[in-house]
Amino acid sequence: MCGIIGYVGEKEIVPLLIDGLKKLEYRGYDSAGICVINENGELECDKKKGGILDLENGVHDKKIKGMIGIAHTRWATHGEPNEINAHPHFDCKKEIAIVHNGIIENYSSLRELLKKEGHVFVSETDSEVVAHLIEKFYAERGDLKESVLKALKIIEGTFGLAIIHKNEKKIIAARRGSPLIIGVGEGEMFVASDVPAILNHTKKVIYLSDNEIAEITKDGYSIENLDGKLIDKKVYDIKWTINQIEKKGFKHFMLKEIFEQPEAIKNALRGRIKDNKIKLTIDLNSEDIGRIIITACGTSWHSSLVGKHFIEKITGIPVEVDYASEFRYRNPLVKPGDVVIVISQSGETADTLAALREAKSKGAKIIGIINVVGSTISREVDSGIYLHAGPEIGVASTKAFTCQITALLLIALMLKQKKSALDVTLLNELFILPEKIQEALKSSDEIRKIAEEFKDSKNFLYLGRGINFPVALEGALKLKEISYIHAEGYPAAEMKHGPIALIDENMPVVFVAPKDSTYEKILSNMEEIKARKGRIIAVTNEDDEKINRLANYVIKVPKVCDELLPIINSIPLQLFAYHLADLKGLDVDKPRNLAKSVTVE
Ligand code: G6P
Repeated sequence: MCGIIGYVGEKEIVPLLIDGLKKLEYRGYDSAGICVINENGELECDKKKGGILDLENGVHDKKIKGMIGIAHTRWATHGEPNEINAHPHFDCKKEIAIVHNGIIENYSSLRELLKKEGHVFVSETDSEVVAHLIEKFYAERGDLKESVLKALKIIEGTFGLAIIHKNEKKIIAARRGSPLIIGVGEGEMFVASDVPAILNHTKKVIYLSDNEIAEITKDGYSIENLDGKLIDKKVYDIKWTINQIEKKGFKHFMLKEIFEQPEAIKNALRGRIKDNKIKLTIDLNSEDIGRIIITACGTSWHSSLVGKHFIEKITGIPVEVDYASEFRYRNPLVKPGDVVIVISQSGETADTLAALREAKSKGAKIIGIINVVGSTISREVDSGIYLHAGPEIGVASTKAFTCQITALLLIALMLKQKKSALDVTLLNELFILPEKIQEALKSSDEIRKIAEEFKDSKNFLYLGRGINFPVALEGALKLKEISYIHAEGYPAAEMKHGPIALIDENMPVVFVAPKDSTYEKILSNMEEIKARKGRIIAVTNEDDEKINRLANYVIKVPKVCDELLPIINSIPLQLFAYHLADLKGLDVDKPRNLAKSVTVE
């Protein structure tokens, strides 16, 4: 949940580290800090509660110069967000500085032990224990890497770590469970939690795996496992451009990412449909599959629910959907022949990764649907497909959601084609989907006006049926994530078993109401709301007199086939949540308490 960047080289170090932190701010933004080995060989540091700008303003006057430094943006897990708990953390003599992402599970016993040995702790964090543990071992042999190795053997839990010592011209980086990359430059080297942090400087990246430790100097790197065995790692060439991760004139990343969906879907489809056949790098034979289990968290869980609908319809294979956090802890019944699909935008979500490992240990075949290339989950699946949606920076997921649905549909069609020819109409509809999304995006201004009417509402109900019920869940999630308005998604027919009691003129209801087999039923549900004075916003592809009479506001989307309804219907709901939060003056890209990538359990 935190972001790390470290640098060894000759560039001006403070602006470089601050810029890197800004690119990582989506990972955490409650406090930040920086530490550089200055020209006198001392550790010089600054920390601030708040965002990177607060740190930047403070550090500016200090004129810190040096060639080696580490920095951190925090999302608190242990100890409230304040200056003392902000990273870096230090040993007693302030010779060692560490930045940490993850959770040290045995920190309290280690802390007690080290306190007895005379170490003095200043913060409430679990992370500080790492600095003191390294200090203890450094006192024995005076070798930083060796001391870190010894400490890592004792530490339980997860970590992405970058460590410096004032007397050593290097950074030691290590990972277990929390992502960490090494950036390879010419006469300079980087360590970071994610690629955007270093993309201004290099496109050559190494992904550290669990229990690996790297020694990074200005001129190179070496990577070992915890037994000291050297490891030869692949250097990836990153294809993203810096332009792709900047806002391109949009006020927020979220808005930019909503508008990128036509292009993102094109990329998700690119090269995957040829001569009316689906071509994926997934090794699956529909005859051998007894059951499919899809597991994920958050928005990715919602796309899983959509996937269940059409995978079952198209392939006849039973599909179960489980929250990764539930799946991993309930000793799931996974049988030979089961296929487990894990879906994750970041490829780093701790619960999804643990669910993957649980399913793998029980013999399931694991398929991944991932956006971030080279991420931990992508490296552990048996096979999978990348979304190619490009970087998603806004904490509220948008383009990844619609691309995940697209990817699930491709998998369903691939399984079907082994038995019979594909429905060409559906394939053609997929090809023109980007244009339809473009059309739907034109309602943005109209949706902003509707949002204006509702920005003071305290609660919302989102209703949908069948394949559009998960769309209602996702619409409600978007609203609560960024506008802090309580919103609940519900299957429209279930409304009368509870939520209808809430309906009055203060409870706006958003209906996902396309003209499909459930349309007439949805209209009846609207009548029930109308009778109780509820205000209705309807998203529909229909233009009949009935819906216009029942709904206070009708948002029209283009007509698409049933399988693609969840994608097209999501567009106005994303825009509605965005505009409403923006009209309230909230920080849309960095909603309070949330992190883009949840790498703790
Ligand atoms: C966090 C993010 C959500 C995301 C979820 C799963 O909660 O804020 O937007 O849907 O994690 O993330 P993943 O990267 O695994 O899709």
